[in-house]
Amino acid sequence: MSTLDAPATLELQLPLDDMRSPRTPAQRPLIVTIDGPAGTGKSTVARALARRLGLDFLDTGAMYRAAAAIVLDKQIRRDDVDEILLQVAEANLHFDWATDPPTMLAWNKPMNTRIRDADVTAVVSPIAGLGQLRQHMVHKQRVIGHQHPRLVTEGRDQGSVVFPSAEVKFYLDATPEVRAARRADQIRATGRPVDEAALLADIIERDRSDSTRPDGPLICPDDALRVDTSSLTLDQVVDTLERLVRDRVPVI
Ligand code: DC
Repeated sequence: MSTLDAPATLELQLPLDDMRSPRTPAQRPLIVTIDGPAGTGKSTVARALARRLGLDFLDTGAMYRAAAAIVLDKQIRRDDVDEILLQVAEANLHFDWATDPPTMLAWNKPMNTRIRDADVTAVVSPIAGLGQLRQHMVHKQRVIGHQHPRLVTEGRDQGSVVFPSAEVKFYLDATPEVRAARRADQIRATGRPVDEAALLADIIERDRSDSTRPDGPLICPDDALRVDTSSLTLDQVVDTLERLVRDRVPVI
């Protein structure tokens, strides 16, 4: 068996759903997906929502960022897809769920700081567009969904591809100008200079790249609840999503 196949074994070892034992709402699987473009606050919102609902939190962007960091740090050519897949499989990307947020690990080493570096952000979108890499990640994310069946998961394809039967699906949106302004505020808060026009151009280009790729493009699934966050604070977004989840499914 190749390293890439390894997670399948994990999946087979998982217990099948036992329909005979009734479950309380707090035991039932509950997958909430949050998709949307960069700068809509998905990560922060998903983490806060997970905490309010008592669910686990999965940041799938961290997995693609880890793959991009591996490509840079191992100096793999970006057209050498086989080597990228091999190294990413050998890194055995997984999370340490004992921390909040869960720590992204590669070769059992924490990656949370490295994956936020500017050089990783600059190359991650085209790397996340590699079809075979996406297959690998989709499989891993589904295994995580089995192991953590009460989950808020965020990314670009969680409701459309990875968890099509999720109990509740959200699509967060905001105008590119609002998203660029939010990014600018984050950067200013760290004391670094900001070029807002460049940020806006970068966001528009990332939207184009994420939504036009053939594998797992950024789309709003038909059955997703679209929430425009342009004029909402983060707290208001979390309040809205919490209410929408509680209206639809018994959580506790
Ligand atoms: O959300 P983020 O900025 O951390 O995502 C990093 C990159 O990974 C971004 O280019 C979108 C991509 N991504 C993806 O293609 N599919 C996902 N499920 C999550 C992120």
